[in-house]
Amino acid sequence: MIMGKQKKKREIIVQIDGKEVKAAEGMTILEAAQKADIFIPTLCHHKKLEPYGACRICTVEVEVRGWKSLVAACLYPVERDLVVRTRSEKVDRIRKMILEFLLAHAPCSPQLQELAQEYGADQDRFEKESSFCILCGLCVRYCAEVKKKNAVGFVECGARREIRFIPEIAATECVNCKECFELCPTSYLQAAFVLTQALAFSTDSSSTASTK
Ligand code: SF4
Ligand code: FES
Repeated sequence: MIMGKQKKKREIIVQIDGKEVKAAEGMTILEAAQKADIFIPTLCHHKKLEPYGACRICTVEVEVRGWKSLVAACLYPVERDLVVRTRSEKVDRIRKMILEFLLAHAPCSPQLQELAQEYGADQDRFEKESSFCILCGLCVRYCAEVKKKNAVGFVECGARREIRFIPEIAATECVNCKECFELCPTSYLQAAFVLTQALAFSTDSSSTASTK
């Protein structure tokens, strides 16, 4: 045995939308599809971050040895005999419903609007509860996993859950960074607004800034 050498990953052939795709063991369906230029929409995925599975817009239909199910492509690993359908009546129906729900929170998001058009989502199906944030966690996870700063985090639970910049950290770290703004699928400007609010409170460590 040769020590210190990484074991080569087994190659797995999967079928995505009728096309045979070569994938390495451990890859997700999303990674295999992207490698083969097959598009699957995502809202909470980023290649530098650990998979999170929050938005479910990447839902696809899979079939393995006769068993069919709906899974999140960004989380589900490829396996032998896997057949994937990235578009089907069921998949489109789920994506449409997810978009209708998300649009109630972020009705002005160009990314959501574009997807809504693709899937025929009704932008007014649910009562608007505009908070701009769809809780995808991209900003929070990017700051923690890539920048290792934890300047932005989630606060509260359930319907009150929202992001918040930590004023003390934001004051020193965010002004020259702002890399998370670009990642937000809903509103760059709103994120900037939340940060500005946090910075306004950064001189008083007992204060916190609200996102609303
Ligand atoms: S502010 Fe934007 S990037 Fe951050 S969790 Fe909300 S939607 Fe995602
Ligand atoms: S991209 Fe897969 S759950 Fe969000």
